[in-house]
Amino acid sequence: MAAKIFPLVLLVATCACLAQPPAPLITNVEHRTTVSLNGPWHAIVDPYDTGLKDYRSHVRSKDGFFQNAKPQTPQDLIEYSFDKSETLNVPGDWNTQRPSLLFYEGTIWYEKSFSYRPKPHTRVFLHVSAANYFSIVGLNGTVICDHEGGFTSFNCEVTPLLHEGENFVVIYVNNTRKADGVPTLSTDWWNYGGLTRDVQLIEVSERFIQDSFIHLVAGTRDQVSGWVKLSDATANQRATVRIPELAIEKTIATNNAGVAEFSFSDKRLQLWSPEHPKLYKVEIETSAGESGTDASKDKLEDEIGFRTIETRGHDILLNGTPIFLRGVSIHEEAPYRSGRANSEEDSRTLLGWAKELGANFVRLAHYPHNEHMLRMADRMGLMVWSEIPVYWDIKWDNPATLANAQNQLTENITRDKNRASIVIWSVGNETPVNDARTKFMQALVKTARSMDSTRLLGAALQVQHTDAQHRDGTTRIIDDPLGADLDILGCNEYIGWYEGKPEDAEKANWKSPYDKPLIMSEFGGSAQSGLHGNADARFTEEYQEDLYKHQTAMLDRIPFLRGTSPWILMDFRSPRRLLPGIQDFYNRKGLISDRGEKKKAFYVLQKWYRQKETTDHSAH
Ligand code: GCU
Repeated sequence: MAAKIFPLVLLVATCACLAQPPAPLITNVEHRTTVSLNGPWHAIVDPYDTGLKDYRSHVRSKDGFFQNAKPQTPQDLIEYSFDKSETLNVPGDWNTQRPSLLFYEGTIWYEKSFSYRPKPHTRVFLHVSAANYFSIVGLNGTVICDHEGGFTSFNCEVTPLLHEGENFVVIYVNNTRKADGVPTLSTDWWNYGGLTRDVQLIEVSERFIQDSFIHLVAGTRDQVSGWVKLSDATANQRATVRIPELAIEKTIATNNAGVAEFSFSDKRLQLWSPEHPKLYKVEIETSAGESGTDASKDKLEDEIGFRTIETRGHDILLNGTPIFLRGVSIHEEAPYRSGRANSEEDSRTLLGWAKELGANFVRLAHYPHNEHMLRMADRMGLMVWSEIPVYWDIKWDNPATLANAQNQLTENITRDKNRASIVIWSVGNETPVNDARTKFMQALVKTARSMDSTRLLGAALQVQHTDAQHRDGTTRIIDDPLGADLDILGCNEYIGWYEGKPEDAEKANWKSPYDKPLIMSEFGGSAQSGLHGNADARFTEEYQEDLYKHQTAMLDRIPFLRGTSPWILMDFRSPRRLLPGIQDFYNRKGLISDRGEKKKAFYVLQKWYRQKETTDHSAH
């Protein structure tokens, strides 16, 4: 044993190429002082990880591309150059920026030089909103942190490494799919690689507001509670929480963990809802403390909506009132230009279409979308189902895979917990029923509940079958054991597409042993926009239209149904869709094409949602 440890310790000690985990996530970046590093970055495509590992031992080499080395003399042998390398835009996936990279899965090195002037009493963190899939960050030649997971944010402290004048950051990004990854090897979405969302420097004071949570207490309309976490785990630090519009001001003090809790009630509070997406400006401010210097002062604001979401039997209650979630599923695919959506504009377009459908709810599949999307949903009044990419068959018995999934869930909830729009945390999609899987998913449910008791837990369950009693093949039973741990049951069904004919939906009956609300989280069929024909001809708009007519009639007959998010708002790129002239690497189940053309089925659903909206209103 002694023999084996020594070389490893030596390696760790000697090589600055081994990274640390990211620093605790700094939330509410939108309202912080930041320096954007978006724009063109030099990029080196490195299929063999030449810039990372020794050619033979595959051990990380200490003079990898993080050094951004440049020949000092004509004799120097440097076989790479960021300066001479073409650029890729950040934010952006690399696949849609160069035809040669459309199918590329592997490593690309990103480099950005920038001039910077360090400020007194200021700490600086490099914040990456998302890098798919595994990334390692280096600054001025020093490797600082690495991160696994393509859809959540992370940040690493760079204060000691930054210097006056020219600096450079190098980020290694690898999107190779892994069997023990989250997601794993097979997905029905394109494995877009790269720095797919914003990259920026965050400047904070020496002692800053790390995180906060503020929400309405379940079952109330006027009681607010929350906490503020400061960067220092020190007691008796003072902070003030304000809602200027209501002249509310609470001064609180931290405990030993640097956390200060608060609560107050106010009958004038207007609650957030899709019809009335009321957001309040909330300010948090810390005072100078003993040092009396600005070094420990910090101020942060955010737009917060107050609402409660609960279940009662089969009902979902928003602010205490039963509601039907009229939704649609959405992938983070950019409208019109394809590739990863990443801008406020993209969010406005996609959620605008959902609103046009008559939706009050969207299922953001199958991974956390960019923060623009959630803030837009807050402003537009759309409830959100947020999900982590525990998708299909994951390595259920691998502890590292579970830790990875739990980390992605934790980062997701940490970033988005103050978004009123999010009503459901989903722990996965279409995962096969077996004990290892159910234990894995139950661990995720536990993680989510330990972080947030104000939202509903769900998952898209797939398995429904006919038991001995209902051998007629028309009765489907949602009795997945995981249902017992969830607040809502999500279920994906494709009657009329993968299973039978559209009209078979008319005969289908749905049952569940659980006294819980059902959200039909996926249903639908494909149509090529502009392809017309008989209603029984697949891939025509008429087939999809007919399928939706039968589906909505069936859904109306399910007594415990309280929401729907059909698959899907817009056609999206998928490596599993190969039919020439129709799919061409696109999943065509969109109600809208990737060029923004509405298909006939769009209007079937729109009509159904209008009816539902009327009945919902008249019922309350
Ligand atoms: C599945 C899955 C989706 C997929 C869809 C389809 O249900 O959850 O990710 O795209 O079916 O087959 O179109």
